[in-house]
Amino acid sequence: MIDEILPSPVGTGSTFADYDAALTALYPQEAAAIASARPKRRQEYASVRMCARRAMSELGVPPAPVLSGVRGEPLWPGGIVGSLTHCPGFRAAAVGRSSAFVGIGIDAEPNLPLAEDLLEFISLPQERARVHALTQSSPEVCWDRLLFSAKEAVFKVWFPLAKCELDFTEAVIRIDPGSGTFSARLLVPGPTADGERIEGFDGRWLSRRGILLAAIALRRTTGQGEAGALPRAGGLGRPVDHLADGDPGVLLTHPHRRARSTESMMPSRSPWPNTPEFATTDSTIALACSSTRTSMPGVEGARSNW
Ligand SMILES: CC(C)(COP(=O)(O)OP(=O)(O)OC[C@H]1O[C@@H](n2cnc3c(N)ncnc32)[C@H](O)[C@@H]1OP(=O)(O)O)[C@@H](O)C(=O)NCCC(=O)NCCS
Repeated sequence: MIDEILPSPVGTGSTFADYDAALTALYPQEAAAIASARPKRRQEYASVRMCARRAMSELGVPPAPVLSGVRGEPLWPGGIVGSLTHCPGFRAAAVGRSSAFVGIGIDAEPNLPLAEDLLEFISLPQERARVHALTQSSPEVCWDRLLFSAKEAVFKVWFPLAKCELDFTEAVIRIDPGSGTFSARLLVPGPTADGERIEGFDGRWLSRRGILLAAIALRRTTGQGEAGALPRAGGLGRPVDHLADGDPGVLLTHPHRRARSTESMMPSRSPWPNTPEFATTDSTIALACSSTRTSMPGVEGARSNW
């Protein structure tokens, strides 16, 4: 169902179940990277990588290992951007060609209220007011959790571009319940892409089967541009490239996982199991998300079959 909130041409893979086959199908360097993790973590890591392989296959690119960067970000093969997510009962991956997309961020959460006090931590006053209003009018969606999910999706598209932290209160999200869209306005200077500073992101959300999904696919405005690094704004964000391994400041506030050995060679086989639950999505391309940029406000290439 993640395909329903991503534009074409994005490849997706998702599953509602885990399979032992996912573990044995890991590339050696992925298996090494996750070897010492708890079984539950190993399983989600493996399952979401099978989703990634499926997504790559749908995009027409060869399967490849997906290791993790210093802040936990997925490291995609050259020419590919993408995002992974896993929550209880659901795992998903989305990939696009970097010639078409600057970045992608997806997030899945159970449709359950946030733990007490968490809303206050992750939201701005205007976001809380909106959450409370939406909860009154449409209680079937946990709007606090959806707000959180949208923020996680923002971070996942933000980080590979900006290479620094983005606090929950450094982007203001507005969720539109009727259209299944949301917008994120950055309250700190964004990175540049295709020569334009990114000021925010537009995304899509979906609530189905007890899962909330949020997705952002940031399209290129030119076929030529490359995403640029964020000029450091005084005191805003937090670069991670200077952090020593195990830096407690980051580990305490943003626990993440680290990659290990990458020495093994990539196997030539496709490790994707032939199971219907690992859904392919080539028939359903429903919508587009776009960036909000200085010289290009509004939605770019949005489709309207909603
Ligand atoms: C990184 C983070 C967004 C992951 O979200 P999550 O809901 O905990 O976990 P999910 O299961 O949805 O996603 C996990 C996947 O995110 C991806 N991810 C992790 N760190 C990432 C990063 N820095 N950049 C992009 N993607 C990242 C990984 O692929 C990971 O899966 P893997 O470890 O199996 O490879 C979250 O842990 C975090 O640090 N949040 C704080 C920052 C934030 O959200 N700020 C709000 C800005 S408005």
